[in-house]
Formats: sequence, structure tokens, C-alpha cells
Amino acid sequence: MGKIMLEVNQLTTKYVTRANEDVYAVDHVSLKIEEGKSLGIAGESGCGKSTLALSLIGYYFPPLHYMSGDIIIDGKNISGLDPDTVRKSVLGTDVAYIPQAAMNALNPTRKVYKFIEDVIHAHGLDMTNKDIYDMAHKRFEEVGLPEEALLKHSVELSGGMRQRVVIAISTILNPKVLIADEPSSALDVTSQKMVIKMMREMMDKGMVKSMIFITHELPLLYNVTDDIMVMYAGQIVEKGTAKQMVFDPVHPYSRGLMRSILVPEAGTRDVKLTAIPGTPPNLKHPPAGCRFADRCKYAVPACKVNAMPIMEFEDNREYRCGHSVQHLREVYEHEDRAE
Ligand SMILES: Nc1ncnc2c1ncn2[C@@H]1O[C@H](COP(=O)(O)OP(=O)(O)O)[C@@H](O)[C@H]1O
Ligand SMILES: [Mg+2]
Repeated sequence: MGKIMLEVNQLTTKYVTRANEDVYAVDHVSLKIEEGKSLGIAGESGCGKSTLALSLIGYYFPPLHYMSGDIIIDGKNISGLDPDTVRKSVLGTDVAYIPQAAMNALNPTRKVYKFIEDVIHAHGLDMTNKDIYDMAHKRFEEVGLPEEALLKHSVELSGGMRQRVVIAISTILNPKVLIADEPSSALDVTSQKMVIKMMREMMDKGMVKSMIFITHELPLLYNVTDDIMVMYAGQIVEKGTAKQMVFDPVHPYSRGLMRSILVPEAGTRDVKLTAIPGTPPNLKHPPAGCRFADRCKYAVPACKVNAMPIMEFEDNREYRCGHSVQHLREVYEHEDRAE
């Protein structure tokens, strides 16, 4: 087993709404990523993916609050640090974060290389602006970006180029963990592929030591990440290798996500497109039993009555469902044969 770059144990964070209601958007989440590995996080909109990203980088500004759990980056526990310390001594070096729609957030009146100067200055590194420019130029070359991009304003770049530039700026200090929230969602297929290729290359060349890739499209993660976890209503419902999760999902929600894709990806079976009916629950009042039971076509009355199942290891799988893996497999097989 390789060195653990990120270890998260039972992390719980909540929003406190203006009406003073608690929304547990990250509920006892645990995960581990080894050096050189990438983890995909999938789930529909509203399942807590972005909140998990913010929680992992210690972005605890109201209404988001840290409740409990550990976040350990390469042996350093960053949970509970105040946001100011996090900004100065964690962000950019231990963990880099590409927020959702980051490519549209760059100040349009400044040239791209200026943002890299900002990063270096924010970390108090002793470098002249010429040194910084040379370093940026070298990095852009290494990741396949043209030097012209450094000298342009962000608005002069295409969407795909802008996103790759944002990734290059955020990772200039070779972070141990890169967290990218839907980094390719707003892009056309060609630009999507270029963004993903660049991220993979940065891992292979050691510019980032591990990676989390967040998306609402589970199949996209195949070929992009080593492992995948599926999030539902603030909780992890299944974890596995990319291959297991894409070709043989066990949890009914993972299976639903795989089957609600619009374009079957290479290798996946050409199944009927069946979107999961309904929407994720309102986390102000999560259901008492299994949080997915209301939408689950395999649910039995006990699913709504018994407490939310805990994560269990069975048959080399980690999942959260009242049914056994064997039972679910039988039901799925029966269903597939009938199609
Ligand atoms: N500022 C906020 N105040 C209260 N609840 C919020 C806030 N932001 C997000 N939420 C709630 O947290 C849950 C998770 O949201 P989010 O992390 O954005 O999900 P995702 O990224 O998976 O779409 C949702 O139920 C959402 O309504
Ligand atoms: Mg989100």
C-alpha cells in the first residue's frame, strides 16, 4: 500500500440556515487516498459533493460549520484549524481547490501570469517577478499550455483553455491533494477530454500527489479515477474501484446513477435510459429510515422503518443498504434478463 496522502475520518459538517435550522450536508464521511491515486465522487445535485469539498479544505465560514471528524493530509491533521491559518499554510501547498465554475471566476481585467504572482506572494515566497514568470512559463510548457496564455486576460481564452489555466495556477506549488469540483461539466466534449488528460498528466508527473474529481456523472469517472464513491443525502452510500462502480454497482442508487446516463459510454451495456424518479430528500428533515428508500424500487417496508443502514463490507464491497449484496445481485440479474 502506498503512502496515504489524504485520510478523512467520520467528517461531519453542517449549515445553519437563517431560520436556525441545521442542514447536515456532510454526515460522517470517511475516505482515504494513496499517493498517485485519484478518487471520483459522484451523486446528483444537492447530495453534498461541493459541501464536502469546502469542508475538506477547511472553508468554515458561516453558514458552514465544522462539527466533528478528522482531515489528515500527508500526516498533518488540519481539522479544526481556523480559516485564516488554513488560507496561509494549507491552501495551495497541502490542498488545492478548483471550485465549481472556477474558470468564470478569474478577474477579467488582469493577465493570467499575474494570478500566479498572487499565489507566490500570498505564500510569502522569496521570488522576483521574473523568477515567477519563468516558473509559470516552464509549468505551462510542461502541462501543454501555450506561453501566450500567460500574457492574455482570462476573457480572451476559450472556456476549455481557461479551465486548464485555472488548474495550472492553482497547482503551481505542487499540492498533495487536488480537489476539482465538476471541472469539466460546463465544457464541450473535446475540452472536457483535454482538461481530464491534463489532470491525469499532472498526477503522473508528480505535480499533484493525489486527486479528488467531483461530478454528477458517474460514468465520466471511469478512465479518469482509480476509485469512486457515491454520495447521497450527505452520506457515502458506496465505495469501490472505478471498474466495480461502473460495471457492477451494488447500491440501488449507484445502479440508478449508472442507468440514468444519456449517452452510453464505451464498454457500458446499451441499457434503457431510466432516470431515477424523484429528487434527493430535503436535508433539513432527512427521512428516518434509509434516505434513499422513497425512491428505491427495491425497497421493502423495513427500509423506511429501520434506521439508515451503516456502511458494511461484504463480498469485497463497501456499501450502505439493508439488502445483502447477494440479494441485490439476484434482483439485478433478473431485471437485466427481462430487458
Ligand atoms: N448556504 C447554504 N445554507 C443551507 N443549506 C445549504 C447551503 N448550501 C448548500 N446547502 C444544502 O446542502 C446540501 C448539499 O449541497 P451541495 O454541497 O451544494 O450539493 P452538490 O454539490 O452535491 O450539488 C443541499 O441540500 C443544499 O440545499
Ligand atoms: Mg456542487
